[in-house]
Amino acid sequence: MTSLSADERAQVESAARVLRAGGLVAFPTETVYGLGADAENTRAVERVFEVKGRPATHPLIVHLARPDQLGAWAEDVSAAARLLAERFWPGPLTLVLRRSPRVPLAVTGGLETVALRVPAHPTALALLAAFGGGVAAPSANRFGSISPTTARDVREELGDRVDLVVDGGACHVGVESTIVDVSDAEPRILRPGGITREDLESALDRAVPAGAAGSPRVPGQHPSHYAPRARVLLAAPADVVREAARQQALGRRVGVLLPAGERAGAGQEALPVPPSLAEYARSLYDLLREFDRRACDVIVASLPAPEGLGAAIADRLLRAAGPRG
Ligand code: TXA
Ligand code: MG
Repeated sequence: MTSLSADERAQVESAARVLRAGGLVAFPTETVYGLGADAENTRAVERVFEVKGRPATHPLIVHLARPDQLGAWAEDVSAAARLLAERFWPGPLTLVLRRSPRVPLAVTGGLETVALRVPAHPTALALLAAFGGGVAAPSANRFGSISPTTARDVREELGDRVDLVVDGGACHVGVESTIVDVSDAEPRILRPGGITREDLESALDRAVPAGAAGSPRVPGQHPSHYAPRARVLLAAPADVVREAARQQALGRRVGVLLPAGERAGAGQEALPVPPSLAEYARSLYDLLREFDRRACDVIVASLPAPEGLGAAIADRLLRAAGPRG
């Protein structure tokens, strides 16, 4: 815990106490803020679902302090799974494995598999080390809305329904972890995220396909996830401004995620697409929240090429633009 300030250390100590007492703690990770509970306390885990308004069949990720805890929480850990854990933990990678009996079914939504991750954030790691056990944590937002990337976002999403919010500043990856199912022989990407497919394939020296869309192995992956209040419309980069004008003509207040080289029309709320994919991922959710703060009815955006971090950004924009449940 040496890299934390005295104030951060104090926050971490109280957060660990809240977790031990069965309470809920929102905490920063490198991807997004999580809403944490003691993974072995079924009642606390149930409260996570209540507070988020999330159906109990949508499993949670269990966060661990160290890669060597893997064996205590999962069974039949394959060589590929170990290799990925060694290579990418701590980091924005979640591994789905057969659960050990230690993992309550409340955490896995009744599945025999469990999602595990060691986050790369000093505050999260300090909290996990101080607590000692596993922390079950979904993103700290209401079900279906955008994941929070600052402590302020968490408070806006969850208010006083969470016992403690640990403030660790803005998350530097900005989109959720990559989820890889390594519970059987063929690793599959269930959700693109902070670790790219290219990273995974070069580590494993094999192709890592995406799990089928709507796969039953990804119960939480509804198309309407990650949605701001405003409706999101997708257009080709060269058509974004024209589509925005069409929406204005219908009387709507329009936000534009403005591609490089394009110029917004009069009366359009324009925010530029960040110049690199890393910066785009880091600020994506804040950009969408900013359009909501500006009371836009519609956001017009275009998809980045699905390469590297572009795959995760495109995935989140597609879900934000998807049908609302
Ligand atoms: O970056 C992240 O992963 C963040 C931070 C807080 O760690 N967490 C996060 O959690 O995004 P959540 O609950 O918003 O998304 C977890 C995803 C869900 O889509 C869920 O369906 C999937 O993980 N998941 C969890 N356990 C699973 C399992 N056993 N099999 C398949 N998918 C699983
Ligand atoms: Mg989430």
